[in-house]
Amino acid sequence: MKNRSLISISDYSKEEIMQILEIAAEFEKKPHQNLLNGRVIASLFFEPSTRTRLSFESAIQKLGGNVIGFSSAATSSVQKGESLKDTILTVCNYSDLIVMRHPVDGSARFASEVASVPIINAGDGANQHPTQCLLDLYSIQKTQGTLENLEVTFVGDLKYGRTVHSLVIALCQFNTKFHLVSPVELKLPSAVKRHIKEANLQYEQYTDFSEVIPKSDIIYMTRIQRERFPDPLEYEKVKNAYILDNSMLSNAKENCRILHPLPRVNEISINVDDNPKAYYFEQALNGVFVRQALIASILGLK
Ligand code: CP
Repeated sequence: MKNRSLISISDYSKEEIMQILEIAAEFEKKPHQNLLNGRVIASLFFEPSTRTRLSFESAIQKLGGNVIGFSSAATSSVQKGESLKDTILTVCNYSDLIVMRHPVDGSARFASEVASVPIINAGDGANQHPTQCLLDLYSIQKTQGTLENLEVTFVGDLKYGRTVHSLVIALCQFNTKFHLVSPVELKLPSAVKRHIKEANLQYEQYTDFSEVIPKSDIIYMTRIQRERFPDPLEYEKVKNAYILDNSMLSNAKENCRILHPLPRVNEISINVDDNPKAYYFEQALNGVFVRQALIASILGLK
């Protein structure tokens, strides 16, 4: 992993994923370690974020590093017409590693091709969100005691959901049985389903949500993302397609946990928050340890 960019979860082997999760567990036990010793990490967010940006910044500060960057394209020279290439070439002069979120699919790969320092993709359009995937895997392993042989249900925007794309691809390495719940318009793209088929694993697609709850070890809820719809009327048709309410969890398995990359709008009722099966805020905390592990590994410090 040393000096390598992380653009897609497919960039990491199963062994490398497991190594990151092991290192993350070490950081969870001992989060404050002065490994970065003044190194500079650039955090370039061309698209809004709360968890990814702040958990990266928290991870860097717990490791003794410094963060530079911007939280919106509006406060950078992109506003004056600067290209992504010129921005990346410039920021490479100031930093040891770049964490980048961008609204365009493929932008992170492009940045890694022009950069002289490693790039971590913090989400590129509707494509990939590999660091979210690593923290999702960490959360699944922590709550289930294993990543192998689980039944995982994905609910909501499976078409544009980059966290879904990354996690489905990663779980293909762990003999997962997939339940895919979405409106017809928001089905998982064929390119992602191809990974499931190539791994000889099973998936079933549903439009109704309730029938899969009793089968699920993990229920991975997602937001219907208004910002990804080319036509706002299409968003209006599906925006309330799935709302998980506490009463729906009465026949869930004992070990079942509810995950959500967040932010949520209304797809998980707030009455679920106090249910012991709700794990989404702990999931967000796990992002700090996983991102510490990732930074330390890429900079060759672990
Ligand atoms: N999960 C996630 O990417 O959240 P943010 O958009 O708040 O970073």
